[in-house]
Amino acid sequence: MPDAFSPLELRETTIRNRIAVSPMCQYSCEDRDGLATDWHRVHLGSRAVGGAGVVLTEATAVEARGRISPEDLGIWSDEHRDALAPVAEFVKEQGATPGIQLAHAGRKAGTARPWEDERGPLAEDEGGWEPVAPSPDPYPFEDDPRETRALDETGIEDVVDSFRQGARRAREAGFEVAEVHAAHGYLLHQFLSPVSNHRDDEYGGSFENRSRLVREVTEAVRDEWPDGKPVFVRISATDWLDDRDSWDIEQSVRLADDLYESGADLVDVSTGGIHPDQDIDWVGPNYQVRFAERIKQDAETDIAVGAVGGIQTGEQADALVRNGRADLAIVGRKFLRDPYFPLHAARDLGREDAVEVPAQYRRGFQ
Ligand code: FNR
Repeated sequence: MPDAFSPLELRETTIRNRIAVSPMCQYSCEDRDGLATDWHRVHLGSRAVGGAGVVLTEATAVEARGRISPEDLGIWSDEHRDALAPVAEFVKEQGATPGIQLAHAGRKAGTARPWEDERGPLAEDEGGWEPVAPSPDPYPFEDDPRETRALDETGIEDVVDSFRQGARRAREAGFEVAEVHAAHGYLLHQFLSPVSNHRDDEYGGSFENRSRLVREVTEAVRDEWPDGKPVFVRISATDWLDDRDSWDIEQSVRLADDLYESGADLVDVSTGGIHPDQDIDWVGPNYQVRFAERIKQDAETDIAVGAVGGIQTGEQADALVRNGRADLAIVGRKFLRDPYFPLHAARDLGREDAVEVPAQYRRGFQ
């Protein structure tokens, strides 16, 4: 049985261990241009030095209007690709697998970064823009000066093409994992969930129609991605809205199998984000792992499964891999506190043999 420090083989790619850095927005592009800066290079580079198996970038927008905040990373031009290439190169030099999360925020786009005084959606004169979505219903922000526009058929084709071009540029930049962001209430999740999708064309209504866009995007990304390298898709396994017609774990199991057929190799299982009424029953250690486990148990295909949410210790990461609950432990906030989490976890678990402390740091780890 593998443990947290066993390599993970996906296609022809060997990931050195089962601990991944979860995508986390840094709101750190200067001049609101979407270009990677020294912050991104140092932040992501440090976590590769710290022993992570996969280092995923934050949500990286495939279109400028798909940014969550104007300070997010983007990949909508070749200039963006060139700014990201040194990130991928350094991460790889440290022995980690560089990954990029390709994203479009849809109706949740164009909000102020969380530490600004002005919270929520930005008006156009503050640097905001008109968000797009499956339907004209806006995300229920407290105070939103903007109108939300429903994508027409050409708009949907443009979105698929933007993900395709984003994947092409990510490949050219040297990334080895492409993760499609279809979770947390952003554009692809907005199509999946009946809470936000009220279309009556072939992209709305039935499960098959609501999931059409994420399948088309996954196929386009797979098309651009090298055969030997893995594609991940992050989903929200539940909307936490049992009181209404919404997205749930049963649909997620079915979707995981469909995504495998579309060319995905791993489903990264998160939850929530579609609507502020969400009623999360409990948040704490491993709080979303049961959704990953359910997909691992019930999926009929060989799709690999990543678990995320409240993984804070080496023991937790190790146990969920050893017990077969998930194939990959994806860790967010713990990595904000400790860039060297995998090296520390190896020490805590008596597995120093399984990691390589960089020569420059060895005296600190004796
Ligand atoms: C996040 N999260 C997140 N998720 C995602 O898919 N794309 C993103 O860009 C971000 N951005 C982001 C920024 C910050 C500062 C935080 C704390 C979180 C969610 C994150 O990846 C993860 O799923 C959650 O934080 C839960 O995992 P942890 O933190 O409990 O390990």
